[in-house]
Amino acid sequence: MRENDFFVIKAEEDGVNVIGLTRGNTTRFHHSEKLDAGEVMIAQFTEHTSAVKVRGKATIQTNHGEMKTEGS
Ligand code: TRP
Repeated sequence: MRENDFFVIKAEEDGVNVIGLTRGNTTRFHHSEKLDAGEVMIAQFTEHTSAVKVRGKATIQTNHGEMKTEGS
């Protein structure tokens, strides 16, 4: 995935967390965004963000395809 490609996360329940993890030698949470049902976040991987963790029921689209998390 190129850094400027976008990925899309759509919350399928209230309280879905989209957590950004830092790029570089240490891997730590740097941002947590809470989405309610139906809310959509459109984001990129950046200089600061190399990984994203999604907690809760959501649909995720990337250029690798679409997947759903199972949620709690
Ligand atoms: N300031 C962060 C950055 O530029 C914002 C961000 C980009 C982000 N992509 C993200 C936060 C994905 C959470 C998840 O890296």
